[in-house]
Amino acid sequence: MTRTDASRPHPAAPQPGASPLSAAAAPFRRLRTALSVSGLGQWLAVPALSAAAVLPADGTEARLRAAGAVLALLVLPAVLLAPLAGALADRVDRRLALLIADGLRFVVVLTVPLVDALPWTLAAAFLVGCLSLLWAPAASAALPALVSDATVGASAGGTVVAREAAETDLRADARRSAARAAFGPAPVAALLFAVLAVIANAVLGASHRTDLPLYATAALFVLAAALTALVKQVPATEPISVPAPLKLLFQGPGLDRAGHGLGLAVGGAALAAGAVAAVARVHTGELGGGDAGYGAVLTGLAAGLATGLFLGPRVLGPFSRRRLLGLAVIAAALLLIVAALVRNLVVVAFVAAFLGVAAGAAWSTATAAVRDPAGETGDESGDRRPRAFLASIALIGTLVAVAAVPAVAGALGSHRLTIGDGYDLDGSMAAQLIAAVLALITGAVAYRRLDDRRGIPLAADLRAALRGEVYVPPSQAPAPEPVRRERGVFVAFEGGEGAGKTTQARLAAIWLRDHGYDVITTHEPGATKIGMRLRAMLLDRDTTGLSDRAETLLYAADRADHVANVIRPALERGAIVVSDRYLDSSLAYQGYGRQQPVGAIARVNAWATGGLVPDLTVLLEVPPADGLRRLSAPADRIESEPQEFHERVQAGFRALAEAEPDRYLVLDASRPQAELSREIQYRIREILPDPIPAGTEDATSTFPAITDV
Ligand code: TYD
Repeated sequence: MTRTDASRPHPAAPQPGASPLSAAAAPFRRLRTALSVSGLGQWLAVPALSAAAVLPADGTEARLRAAGAVLALLVLPAVLLAPLAGALADRVDRRLALLIADGLRFVVVLTVPLVDALPWTLAAAFLVGCLSLLWAPAASAALPALVSDATVGASAGGTVVAREAAETDLRADARRSAARAAFGPAPVAALLFAVLAVIANAVLGASHRTDLPLYATAALFVLAAALTALVKQVPATEPISVPAPLKLLFQGPGLDRAGHGLGLAVGGAALAAGAVAAVARVHTGELGGGDAGYGAVLTGLAAGLATGLFLGPRVLGPFSRRRLLGLAVIAAALLLIVAALVRNLVVVAFVAAFLGVAAGAAWSTATAAVRDPAGETGDESGDRRPRAFLASIALIGTLVAVAAVPAVAGALGSHRLTIGDGYDLDGSMAAQLIAAVLALITGAVAYRRLDDRRGIPLAADLRAALRGEVYVPPSQAPAPEPVRRERGVFVAFEGGEGAGKTTQARLAAIWLRDHGYDVITTHEPGATKIGMRLRAMLLDRDTTGLSDRAETLLYAADRADHVANVIRPALERGAIVVSDRYLDSSLAYQGYGRQQPVGAIARVNAWATGGLVPDLTVLLEVPPADGLRRLSAPADRIESEPQEFHERVQAGFRALAEAEPDRYLVLDASRPQAELSREIQYRIREILPDPIPAGTEDATSTFPAITDV
């Protein structure tokens, strides 16, 4: 099938396979490394300082208070002083801000083992918290500022528009790189802490075993400063503005009821994750794990969070994201109950990991909902306040957890409750249980508020999602519009990119014509005049920012025109219509690929087409990686989606075919072309209005057999 001009590659598009930033200049890479090293130091400072504060404390209550105080003082500046630090970072040179933050954090952390006194350890935690506030906005502004002209030039063509588009993309990539450098090292830092704790236990005396992680933290900060110093200059092209968490919390970002449900969910998840971290040092000490055990629990939690962040938007594709969010918070709360009650360190570390997954998935699902217009609470104009609101809630939830849970645990500490056969419930367990109950209530309320599939049983919904489908209760199944009787036959060819359906559709049409049928070969999108214009809009890579819903409706509009002007008239005159793509492409690409509700897309299309469904759909399956490789022409807007998208599309096609096996012929497109054609012919033959008598084809190509009767 021929391509319109629409599929020209965007002139600013990077060449396939090459990361746009791989062409980045050396200062960019150097600064990125410096930021990652500093990020590692920042995360290592958390367990290092809290372990140092806990070490000299006497008694469980004092230990809980010390650990809680360090964590709370590390987080407190972010709640109170973020905009102030942001304004300061905006005034000074970015590079200087980074150097000051790393240099001073080096000095502060280094003095902790030297001074060796709890008040200074606590003051150090507060100072590190403040300096990290200066560092974070400077870091996220510095990296994009190093997207140099040379870098843009390397990945863009010559036109001004192309260069601007490329620059915007690269800066957004750089901002993501900065966020990865700041948050990515958290699991590594926790693991490093566990390893250092094991070494320090063996090498240093009992009273100094927390010094090694502190020295390592200081060393990381000084190394980061040295690497930053090697970057000669960071232009102040990126402005810095940091919203005030408390102000956002009280004023609200103008979200609706569902938006507040998102806030509740994020708060509940932060509370559960914060509660585990808050008592982890003391809890692991009681389980005989010491600092190494503390490191293991934090590694589990941090690695879990990272996994959850990644999985959140990907897991259970067809399942409602809002239901998933509520369920993730409830799961985190239930896991907190398990973490509180279990008395085995290894199990606690694993439970912390799963809790991290649930909390991470809750965060990424909630932020995706405010970004994604399909979440209905977002603002397509790029308003970043809803996300900042959620970040404030996460921060404040964490602060409440790390401040209150150890305090409550300390207060309850002396009242042991013995259950049954000598099972002791101590203060830290009870405090975690209280936090878990609060998180559970929050999760349940959030679930109710966010539920966008009210009345649909959760179990059936989940079961269908596990099969890759959207559950439609019998009562809500769209009433089929009366389909007008046609005399013709409608065959659609479907499949992912590069499946070879265009070729097979053409071969089938030739075969049908050879047998004397009136055949129309057609395709989507773009078979009509209007359709061609829609196709250009849909597939041109210059079309940017097209919302998923608009894309769905444009495909449906093309289809409505196609049915009204091409397919239906042909069927009415008794012709056989062979279409390269039809309705299932929208269900698979816009539904499964773009993760929009498949049921809603089916309903829109049922209306657009007057309920016209093919008599047979031939689905050619090819692994997306192979299919995309087969494409000869440059990628259009849909083809250039990432591979996960195409994998979801393929899974979607399969789910559609499995739901109605009688109407589909599913074929492995890697088989020889001739074999595929033959199977398609056999199947089409079954639905032809005037069946070709079996054996006709054979009879015409073989000698009649003369037999004696
Ligand atoms: P096209 O150039 O026709 O290629 P192909 O050979 O893959 O059919 O491109 C059509 C593109 O549009 C293809 O990537 C799939 C996509 N598409 C949808 O996303 N939704 C739809 O409803 C249809 C019909 C196509």
